Amino acid sequence: MTAARRSTRVKRRIPPTGPRAKPLALSARGKQRFTSGRPARLPAEYARLVRAAARARRRAYAPYSQFPVGAAVLANDGTIYAGCNVENASYGLALCAERVAIHTAVANGRRRLTAIAVVGPAGITLTPCGACRQVMEEFGLQTVIIAAPRGAPAVVSLPALLPSPFTRGWPQARHAGL
Ligand code: THU
Repeated sequence: MTAARRSTRVKRRIPPTGPRAKPLALSARGKQRFTSGRPARLPAEYARLVRAAARARRRAYAPYSQFPVGAAVLANDGTIYAGCNVENASYGLALCAERVAIHTAVANGRRRLTAIAVVGPAGITLTPCGACRQVMEEFGLQTVIIAAPRGAPAVVSLPALLPSPFTRGWPQARHAGL
């Protein structure tokens, strides 16, 4: 194959990128999994968390992806810490909203965390990335509330999102059937 033909083929396989790129939608199977967790009404504590995440989202620094995200984490003493995504001209340095919120809680002395709310752009069911799921696991988070500016939030358990987290302990790995 000539170099020219090869480059056309590669181009076709690469999805559009840049600020105007449409974010990927969740697969039909993914949607089905998450819509089952949409409660008719959120408990007041979770509703407060979603509002804090939505406020934080307005502070997102996402000039490269144009994909603002807000997150808020609930500590076991009832305190809430919020975060937003923070991007960089060196793209790989972007920080997700979830990790900013969780690490802010930890930096403020809260290591026992119970729930996290994540608010992404309207019309998208955003699910946290794998790295954030592992960080959630580290600090005991059990409940993930996935929301958007409009539409009902979904409540998902962390074990459903991350069934086999990394662990240095072999006995735990055995529970995961490994
Ligand atoms: N992002 C988050 O902040 N949280 C997520 O759960 C997924 C992705 C951010 C990272 C990056 O700034 C932008 O969204 C696009 O990926």
